[in-house]
Amino acid sequence: MKVLVTGGNGYIGSHTVVDLIDNGFEPICADNLSRSRKEMWAGVQQAAKQEIPLYEIDLSDKVAVQQLFEERGDIGAVIHFAAYKYVGESVKDPLLYYENNLNSLVNLLSCVNKHKVKHFVFSSSCTVYGNPEKLPVSEKSPVVSPQSPYGATKQMSEQIITDFSHNSDCRFTLLRYFNPIGAHPSALIGELSNGRPENIMPILLETADGTRASMTVFGSDYPTRDGTCIRDYIHVMDIANAHTKALQYMQKDTKPEKVQVFNLGSGEGVTVLELISAFEKASGKKLNWEMGDRRPGDVVAVYADNRKAKEQLNWQLQYSLEDMMETAWKWQQKLDS
Ligand SMILES: NC(=O)c1ccc[n+]([C@@H]2O[C@H](COP(=O)([O-])OP(=O)(O)OC[C@H]3O[C@@H](n4cnc5c(N)ncnc54)[C@H](O)[C@@H]3O)[C@@H](O)[C@H]2O)c1
Repeated sequence: MKVLVTGGNGYIGSHTVVDLIDNGFEPICADNLSRSRKEMWAGVQQAAKQEIPLYEIDLSDKVAVQQLFEERGDIGAVIHFAAYKYVGESVKDPLLYYENNLNSLVNLLSCVNKHKVKHFVFSSSCTVYGNPEKLPVSEKSPVVSPQSPYGATKQMSEQIITDFSHNSDCRFTLLRYFNPIGAHPSALIGELSNGRPENIMPILLETADGTRASMTVFGSDYPTRDGTCIRDYIHVMDIANAHTKALQYMQKDTKPEKVQVFNLGSGEGVTVLELISAFEKASGKKLNWEMGDRRPGDVVAVYADNRKAKEQLNWQLQYSLEDMMETAWKWQQKLDS
């Protein structure tokens, strides 16, 4: 089946493209390279051991999206990664986020019925759960009022897809990612910080390679086992594989629900200090970090109940926290070389 992967040159998209090929799917990518570099594409094709079509188009351009579907005429499924993802940037420039993230989705959906697309996978986020009262969070946990324009685009996108699904024969899977980190074991692909890292892992890696003199741990007085925030880190290879599993599931599934939601997390909560220590152990590097004040808006603790994805998608985690650290560090060293 030909699968349109939007944002296929980005962090999670590139790993998914390789996993799809490993499992017999034929990906076609669309990416305007606004948040990734053209030279990354060589790494994607090398990891996939084949050439893959890449359409350099802006998905917020309706005409360009329609032309792509018409020109190809063979798109049976869509995995939609392409979006901007920085919470802080979205607070500073909300319209940029609404325009890019929502228009791209609407433009893609407007081609779904006409071109008889059967399956659609959307990249959502655990941000929809906010600062949850009960842990771990399951797909039934309450979705709370969004805490940033970025988070709002994820919730609105889920709603747009649900509304659209009522008048469509397409099946939709919403995947709520927790904290994807790590890189392909070959170090041919991995995450780019794009000069504006907000997440801990790129900051940690830049501290390890000396780009930053030190890093700050925000908050030491949270009600957690060591006072620092707890997150659910999951290897990007496991996240990528869940997309393949979601397509395989939709191909077989005969349940009436048009829209299914799955949490993609490891199910383990890890504190910031535990993450630092895991990195130091895996890399043999001592990290220079200092304790700082709490950062406004940070969630205390969140980790996934991932049983639904494991049971229904037949998805199994293949990578440990140590693997996440080793592959991320290997990738960073390759970037620096
Ligand atoms: N990485 C995370 O921690 C995380 C967590 C939860 C959800 N997500 C979601 O997963 C998806 C993928 O994230 P990622 O980490 O791979 O991001 P990324 O920035 O590495 O990749 C996104 C890709 O989409 C492309 N893109 C953006 N807007 C586009 C447009 N209008 N037209 C064409 N291409 C466009 C970018 O050039 C980039 O290559 C995003 O929707 C993100 O919101 C990511």
